[in-house]
Amino acid sequence: MCGIVAYIGRKPAKHLLLEGLKRLEYRGYDSAGIAILGTTLKVVRTVGRVRALEDQIEKQGEIDGTLGMAHTRWATHGGVTEKNAHPHLDDGKLGHGIALVHNGIIENYAVLKRYLEDKGHVFKSETDTEVLAHLIGELYRGDLERAVQGALREVTGAYAIAVICAKEPDTLVVARKGSPLMVGVGKDEYIVASDSSAIVAHTTQAFTLADYTVAKLTRESFRTTTVDNVPVDAQVKELEFDLEQIDLGTFEHYMLKEIFEQPRSLRVCMQGRIDDRAGQVVLGGVSEFARRLATARRIVFVGQGTALHACMVGTYLMEEMAKIPSDWDFASEFRYRNPIVEEGTVVVAVSQSGETADTLSALMEAKQRGALALGIVNVVGSSIARETDAGVYLRVGPEIGVASTKAFVGQVMVAAMLSLFVGRRRFLSSEFTLAYLKQLKSVPDCIDRVLEQSDHIRSVTAKYIHRENWLFLGRGVNYPVALEGALKLKEISYIHAEGMPAAEMKHGPIALIDHGMPAVFVATRNSQYEKVLSNIQEVRSRGGHVIAVATEGDDHVRSLCEDVFYVPDLPEHLQPLVTVVPLQVLAYHAALMRGKDVDKPRNLAKSVTVE
Ligand code: F6R
Repeated sequence: MCGIVAYIGRKPAKHLLLEGLKRLEYRGYDSAGIAILGTTLKVVRTVGRVRALEDQIEKQGEIDGTLGMAHTRWATHGGVTEKNAHPHLDDGKLGHGIALVHNGIIENYAVLKRYLEDKGHVFKSETDTEVLAHLIGELYRGDLERAVQGALREVTGAYAIAVICAKEPDTLVVARKGSPLMVGVGKDEYIVASDSSAIVAHTTQAFTLADYTVAKLTRESFRTTTVDNVPVDAQVKELEFDLEQIDLGTFEHYMLKEIFEQPRSLRVCMQGRIDDRAGQVVLGGVSEFARRLATARRIVFVGQGTALHACMVGTYLMEEMAKIPSDWDFASEFRYRNPIVEEGTVVVAVSQSGETADTLSALMEAKQRGALALGIVNVVGSSIARETDAGVYLRVGPEIGVASTKAFVGQVMVAAMLSLFVGRRRFLSSEFTLAYLKQLKSVPDCIDRVLEQSDHIRSVTAKYIHRENWLFLGRGVNYPVALEGALKLKEISYIHAEGMPAAEMKHGPIALIDHGMPAVFVATRNSQYEKVLSNIQEVRSRGGHVIAVATEGDDHVRSLCEDVFYVPDLPEHLQPLVTVVPLQVLAYHAALMRGKDVDKPRNLAKSVTVE
């Protein structure tokens, strides 16, 4: 949801900013822009990707300077046009040469715009962001930092911003509230970005800017203050990941890389968290709250999209392992339905990015109502991670592909470990837990076995690639997997796909089935197996073509279906960890066959920081 990068130092800023922008492009890719302050302030903007911006810079001639900023946009206010692309300026006769990039939303922009227009400011874009550039200009009295602080005192909403001023060639001012922003600290240089992927090539020392904090960066030093100019501390820390983790390596796309990384990611996720001798799960992040968790009366998992599907699996796991009543909810719905949070309620926010606005708001609402707030989050130090009382990190490494894959299995794996952690403190024996943990540890090898069938999955996908409507069906703990399979297919190949509980089909959706319509069933051996087989027959007898995800060695399913993807046998509640994998691979191949941009599907952005 928009990526920003800014630089002040002694190196030419252009290359550095463009490289950073490419790393952040997964956050939004409607349009891009750059501003560099050399002898003059130069700004280049374009609709399209960073590559288009590079072409545009080429056409407009060189832009030199060692201070600058760049932006890649996911449109919210104002269409995808060049004039709405960032950076925005306070130009016009009242301008001071202020340029600004912004990630977030200025909610009171309409009021501020009227105020500024009355003062003679003329706006060129339809964005909320331009208002902030003009407001800073309006308050500018020769000190950029003070003008930014003053302007931020007037705005409501969310922002991560970088601001430069043609009159102050040695100053970069950045600030945040609600949207992510990190400051990389190098020798005589600072590189600021929405996340560390744009920083790590230059320095491994960085600090996360806290909410309501403004940082003034010069080439020699920095200072951080509140918007009221009260000094605050910034703790510079070592970044936790390296460049290798964000490089494509030999893979064609991040999504494919991340699908194939799943076994390794899960091994890291489990590392040090399984105590084989005691038959116990060790989760340092929540140990302080072990008692409150063990005595919880209700657990509610909240998230959005793929993370929501992991939430659903989480409820099955928690009820099975810990026997605590558990629900899931769209974070966006939970937040606004006046939720009842009784004593003993635990709310678990599940999020890869840790920045999803809906999930963050739901978490804050739950906290305010007295719930214990836990997080299952991937990005260390993200907003959700910081707002929770306690939590467990996924440790699956950075996820760059817009379609979430390894984060999903990480979320389910952590939900499984958390459920065992709580269950063991309630009634689970060490023998039972040990046996279960053994199965958990076998999951990475199981996923490897599924991935060996990638070519087979591709050829099955090819058979149905011309079909515009697909169904994904599953029961019990595999119902969320059906939803996830449908989501993966639609979001990257733009094929219409619906996921639903297999039994629900005959209550209406069965009318959709016509000759040759692909219906993907998760039909592994478990407590609902026989019922799913009946649902398969219902589709077959109406001419639908069934693709089943089935347990290795199940020849019966093969005789009932057109095509089968086999997965190794696992206890019922762990099956989503393997049954989702062929569906990820199917979606990947479908998108490729349809010539779509797998890693940057249209209209999407990796983290959705608006509600
Ligand atoms: C789908 C996808 C999205 C995210 C959702 C929540 O592939 O990636 O549905 O799962 O936007 O994002 P996080 O997990 O960052 O909160």
